[in-house]
This record gives sequence, C-alpha cells and structure tokens, in this order.
Amino acid sequence: MEPKREHWASRFGFIMAAAGSAVGLGNIWRFPYLTGANGGGAFILIYLGFVFLIGTTVMLAEFSVGRMTQKAAVGAYKSVSRSWTFAGVIGVLTAFLIMGFYPVVGGWATAYVVKSLTGLLSDPTAIGDAFGAFISSPVEPLLWTVLYMSFNIFIVIRGVGKGIEAASKILMPLLILLLISVAGYGMTLPGAMEGFRFLFVPDFSAVSAKTFLAALGQAFFSLSLGMGCMITYGSYLPKDSKLPSSAAVVTAMDTTFAILAGVAIFPALFAFGLEPASGPGLVFVVVPQIFAKMGFIGPILSMIFFIALMIAALTSSVSLMEVVVAYLMDERKWTRRTAVISTGLVMFLFCVLASLSLGLWSSWTIPVLGVGFFDFFDILTDKVFLAIGGLLLGVFAGFKIKKEDLKRELTNEGTFHFALFEAWYFVLKFVTPIAIGLVALFGLFDIVQKELMVFGLIVIGVTALFSKKF
Ligand code: TRP
Repeated sequence: MEPKREHWASRFGFIMAAAGSAVGLGNIWRFPYLTGANGGGAFILIYLGFVFLIGTTVMLAEFSVGRMTQKAAVGAYKSVSRSWTFAGVIGVLTAFLIMGFYPVVGGWATAYVVKSLTGLLSDPTAIGDAFGAFISSPVEPLLWTVLYMSFNIFIVIRGVGKGIEAASKILMPLLILLLISVAGYGMTLPGAMEGFRFLFVPDFSAVSAKTFLAALGQAFFSLSLGMGCMITYGSYLPKDSKLPSSAAVVTAMDTTFAILAGVAIFPALFAFGLEPASGPGLVFVVVPQIFAKMGFIGPILSMIFFIALMIAALTSSVSLMEVVVAYLMDERKWTRRTAVISTGLVMFLFCVLASLSLGLWSSWTIPVLGVGFFDFFDILTDKVFLAIGGLLLGVFAGFKIKKEDLKRELTNEGTFHFALFEAWYFVLKFVTPIAIGLVALFGLFDIVQKELMVFGLIVIGVTALFSKKF
C-alpha cells in the first residue's frame, strides 16, 4: 500500500509555509537592488502590475492543479497528460538550478549575522572591499553555505507538517517583527523623505523592454511561481481549504515584504547619501554601511537584519528542496530521508561551482554562453525557465484541464461562490500566455544574454523528447 500523503496541519500553517516560500532573498536581497538599478518607482509600478494580474492568477492555478491531482510538479502534469510531463521536469530542473546559487547567498546572510558583531561595521569605508574579499575567497563562503544547507536539510527531513510548517509558523511572524523594527528606525532618520520619493514616485525615463523582462522575472521569482513549487505545496492541502483567498493572502504578504524591505533600505540609504544602483551587493555592502553610521545600536540592528534575511531565505529554500524531494517520493518512491540527503548533496555541488565562479574562477566563463556559473544559474532560471514555466502552466491549466474541473476545485465542489472565476479563467487562458510571450520576445532583442535564452529553449526541447523516462 502507498503511504498516506502528508498534509498541512492547519490553514494558518499552510499560509505561513506558502508565504514563507514566497518571501525570501527575492524580496529582501533582490527586489531592492533591481529597484535601485531600474530607476525606483517606475520599476515597482510595472512589477506590481505583473504581480496582481499574472502572479495571483498563476498562483491560484498552481494551488488548484496541486490540490486537484494531490501530486507534486511532475506527477501533477503527468496525471493529466503524459505529453505534458516535461513541464514538470523543467520545474524540478529549475529547483536544482536555483538551489545552485540560493544557498550561497543564504550562506552570506548567515555569515553576516556573526560578522555584524565582530568588527565588520567598525570601518564603513572598508565594508565594500570586505564583502568582495569574502565572497571571492575559495573556502570561507562555502563553509557558511554548508551551515545554511544543514539548517535546510534539518527542516525538510522532518517532513511537511512537523518540519516546513512548524518552522514557518515561528519564523514568519518573527521575520515581520525584525523587518518592521529596522524599517521603523530608518524612517526616523533626517533626509529619509528622498528615499520614499525614489521608491514611490515613478520616473519612466529609465524604462525599456529590459525593465519589463526584469519585472516579470522578479514577479515569478518572488512569488515562487513557474516551476511547480506552489503545485507541490497545493498538493498537501486538504480538500476543504479555500484556494482563492489563500492565493490572495500569500501574494499580498509577499508584496508587503518586498515594499517593507524597500522601506527598510532606501530611506536610510538616501539619508546617508549612498548609491541606490549598487547591484547585488546592495544588501551586503550598503546596508551594513547604513548600520555602521548609526553608532552603538548599529551592530545590533545589523545582526537583526541579517537574521531576518537568513530566516526569509531558509523558508524559501526549503520549498525549493521540497519540489525535488516530493518528485522523488511521489514518482520514484524514494524515502524522504534518502531524497533529502541526495538532493542536498547535488545542490551543494552546484553551490561550489557558483561560489567559485565569483572568486577563483572569476575570469572563466562558460563557452558560448559567456557567463560564470553563479550568473548562469541565476539568469537561466529567473529570466528564462520561470517565465516559460508560467506560460506552460497557463496553457496547461487553460487548455488541457476542463473548465468545469477547475471550477469545481476552486469552489470546493460548489460549496462556496468564487465571484471572480470567469475573470480569473480569462486571464489564465489568454492574458498570461500572451503577456509572457510578448515580454520574452521583446526581452530577447534587448537582453545581453540571448545565448542563454536559446540554450534554455534547447534544454526544454530535449527534456520534452526524453519526458517518457520520468
Ligand atoms: N520566492 C523565493 C524568494 O523570493 C524564492 C523561491 C522559493 C522560488 N521557491 C521558488 C523562486 C520557486 C522560484 C520558484 O526568495
């Protein structure tokens, strides 16, 4: 007999876990630096447009497909149509690739919890160089990645309810408190207004096709969409929980955290006259510089901030790992233990490549593609696989699953009314694929990494050819 499928213990627990998956490095590390690099308010506006129109729609579709089939990504596609298996397989592959760099950054955050208290802040002018030296050294960052990965493995190995749900129920509320305290302090600084203006007054002169692709990729990344993560989490839902309100709450929480991270960073950044467009180092260089200027309270606030960042990352990376683990358990009948340990090892190996690509191997790039491993994992997932994954899901749910089946799933067999069903269905079936297609097409002409886009499409094609094997 098959072992009984694990389920979330409560609706609150599920929402915390799903919001935990969504809120992560994407919100606190990446959203601020993308906003900084793409001109502030205008980027945020486009991002919010994608989140509310396409993000909520795809999230609700992922929850429905997961709960309907009671299967993780690959199994969910396969149980509806054999020839769609590849879309789930791409999701599992994407999970490996994201986990090829995510725990590296998670490791940096973990390191900064300690570094905040051990002299990092004593000389603000040296913080940038210290970060550069840290991430490019061959061994130290990887030790932190090992520590971070072991937290991850510890949670996932305990399972859905006792591990992921239990951890999220404690960590998410803690995260809100930590971020609010840092944001609250930043708002009181003289000169903070300029930061608010940067965040909330759009300047469209910096907008191009690239901005749209960046905003779309970020929306999918931040909401954990486009690779079956929310299908997997949805598959652990009992039949009586309401999907539409859950999707709305999770999206709202994710957006709130992104804006909160912006408010924690930009007002203080402008107050101290620092540079908004400083790229991926923003959170690790500019934020500690801000704290360094605050006097004795600085190291404490900095430690709190990096604990928050680590917690946020952790509840997300467990969801990425769970996508692979659930596939191995559902389709390959592995035990959770074996699945978690072997998945963790492979992911760690990827992380070694990513971390070394920032130091020892920084002058080497992958032939033809022209990027190092860290950027390869990052750009290929965020700009290619997630968007295409979202497009595939929209087409799959819109054209392959019967409309009545979706309606029954979304209204719990007609036991309540979902007023927006028709609108949602229309956006899912037509607006989502067309919008993603257009953004990808224009992005293709504009982005520097055309080769990566082509490479991604080839991988998807090859996966489709071999999909019978999964
Ligand atoms: N959403 C997370 C973040 O913002 C990262 C993440 C977790 C993710 N699961 C995912 C991204 C699935 C894409 C797909 O940090």
